[in-house]
Amino acid sequence: ASAAALAAPGLSPARAAGAMPAENAADFPPGFLWGAATSAYQIEGAPEADGKGPSIWDTFAHTPGKISDGSTGDVACDHYHRWREDIDLMKRLGLQAYRFSISWPRIFPEGTGRPNRRGMDFYSRLVDGLLEAGIQPYATLFHWDLPQSLQDRFGGWEGRETAQAFADYAGHVAAVLSDRVKHFFTINEFFTFVELGHQIGIHAPGLKLPPARVNQVRHHALLAHGLAVQAIRARSRRGTLVGPAENLMTCVPVIETPAHVAAAQAAMRDVNGGYTTAMLEGRYPPRWLEKLGADAPRVAADDLGIIGAPLDFFGANVYAPFFYVRAIDAEPGYEVIPLPETYPKFPHSTWLRMGPEGLYWAVRHLASIWNVKSIHVTENGCGTKDTPNAAGEMLDVDRIAYTRHYLMQLQRATAEGVPVRSYFHWSLMDNFEWADGLTTQRFGLVHVDFDTQRRTPKLSAEQYREVIRHHRVV
Ligand code: NOJ
Repeated sequence: ASAAALAAPGLSPARAAGAMPAENAADFPPGFLWGAATSAYQIEGAPEADGKGPSIWDTFAHTPGKISDGSTGDVACDHYHRWREDIDLMKRLGLQAYRFSISWPRIFPEGTGRPNRRGMDFYSRLVDGLLEAGIQPYATLFHWDLPQSLQDRFGGWEGRETAQAFADYAGHVAAVLSDRVKHFFTINEFFTFVELGHQIGIHAPGLKLPPARVNQVRHHALLAHGLAVQAIRARSRRGTLVGPAENLMTCVPVIETPAHVAAAQAAMRDVNGGYTTAMLEGRYPPRWLEKLGADAPRVAADDLGIIGAPLDFFGANVYAPFFYVRAIDAEPGYEVIPLPETYPKFPHSTWLRMGPEGLYWAVRHLASIWNVKSIHVTENGCGTKDTPNAAGEMLDVDRIAYTRHYLMQLQRATAEGVPVRSYFHWSLMDNFEWADGLTTQRFGLVHVDFDTQRRTPKLSAEQYREVIRHHRVV
């Protein structure tokens, strides 16, 4: 079907993609997998165990004033030592898949050079444990914990060398784990670590670079992704699948009519020009380059071909709509409407909003604009306060409502044939929420008492278990 046909509401966007319809209208499709996600620095602790080198997040979190509650990831959920117990938790939830990240400085303490066997063994054991529990491992290779040594030697992502170092590391991990891990994500949320880390400076490495240098960082991150795709394919077993996990800036048509849908699609390609469009089209869209002007990145001859190599799937982290969009007559045919101040949001977060249809449009746009044939929702969830009641229970109806609304929109997409293969809730358990630290926002289905390391499933964990059991929204 043509892109235009796919864009028309009421038409099944990806029936063309051959997704298997569910038997019952409210069910998710057969084979759709339910998971939860975490990342290394946010849960593992053990920053020096078994020869690990420091990462830029170790450095950043130890810099006074950077983390709102003064915490660090030194212990976090102590998952490095408690991973068996955590697999038991996953089993109790009925998880079918688990997305975790591998800490680059555990494998290459200095970012390059000789791999550290003991670091790799940790992930090897974890993967074996997951498989024994019947849980599919989905591994992310970069979830922001860059080896400090690369920051010191090459200026981190400002140096093209870092992109090559990433590919070497990714290839090594794939060579060791691809007999058991089928899905690898290259880079998690380009936008967040590039912009927050290098432009605004509120994430590691805490830089406030001028635009031209930020654009170069962004380009090197994309190049790292492309080179890693090649390296993983070169060094993996057959059947290994690879893609990114990106937080799309989702443009929602303000009213779901064909004209506004087309406008939202056009806006989508432009506003995601620096990442998703570049990866899926192998070029920076002209309007994007125009906007950057003289600050546009230096691009070597083959770069965009490498960046735009076909992917096996696209992973989307979706928390909220980014913009609403309407069609207008004047060029470029759309107008991005920023969210009004009173748009419903989570009051204690600067960015977390409602807007469940954002999830529907994120996956539908991937299928209809770029013809993506396999989509994983690699993160979705909300940060809450979770005060225990007198009985010690966490009755997090805010998370339950959030999840229910978002999943209904995801189900709507799958019922229309959008080829979504899995959903990973963020997160399995409360963890180190970057600059917000350990305690200001809790994203877990399972509560963690960071003094005692006691894990307590919240009411939302029970809801999620029932979603999984029934294979539909409950
Ligand atoms: C996206 C990031 O990938 C994850 O690390 C973070 O904790 C969640 N969003 C929530 O902010």
